[in-house]
Amino acid sequence: MRPVRCGPLGLGRVCGYTGSVAEGGDPAAMASLPRCPTRRLTLPWCRVWVVAMNRRTMLKWASSLLALFSGILVAVPGCSFVLAVLRRRGGQDALVQRVLRLEDLPPGEPVEVPIVGRKRDAWTVYDQQTIGRVWLVRRSKADVPPEKSKVDAYSAICPHLACIVGLDQEDRRFRCPCHEAAFDLSGRRVPASELGHPNPSPRDLDPLKCAVVHDADEDAWWVEVTYQRFRAGARRRIPESV
Ligand code: FES
Repeated sequence: MRPVRCGPLGLGRVCGYTGSVAEGGDPAAMASLPRCPTRRLTLPWCRVWVVAMNRRTMLKWASSLLALFSGILVAVPGCSFVLAVLRRRGGQDALVQRVLRLEDLPPGEPVEVPIVGRKRDAWTVYDQQTIGRVWLVRRSKADVPPEKSKVDAYSAICPHLACIVGLDQEDRRFRCPCHEAAFDLSGRRVPASELGHPNPSPRDLDPLKCAVVHDADEDAWWVEVTYQRFRAGARRRIPESV
């Protein structure tokens, strides 16, 4: 026989019941136990605590709890690391970059420029990679002062399924080589009636923020683009990370 009292692991007071039971937590002994007089716990639980907690059971419980605790200690940082990598995978939301000197952009003539940046592939980071392409169109004439010049920028990623849109010099249109989507030089979808077949692109080309900025160090005017990606195949523009 050993003295017991009602409490978690037999250590603390829960309802105040004290008594004695045979070692081993025999179910028959359990059934014949006097009921907990204060009834603060439901009786079955009260009995289980009282009867089952001999030293061996307590050690078993303690080692299981320890194993569970160690598992959590390893799993939590592990999971957060994997989640952080997955979250970082796409990189930043937008990237501001000077892509071309204004003097190299002829008025009315679209010019395609690459966006160079850091590419992350799960655990590996590659610097100085082409992460996107942009079409620039200088709207203002050559004699307009640089600070008043207007340049439009469009992502070269086709809104249909993300192929790279090229320039059809003959038609003076942007054209996608994959499924023949076509856009005018203002980025608008060419209607099926003009195209002779349905235009598969769900929306116009994605316009990007663009500014002409002065670089005081080299005294030159640059075209600066805020590069952003949008979800392919969607009617609405849904931003994605670069
Ligand atoms: S990806 Fe451009 S038309 Fe399909």
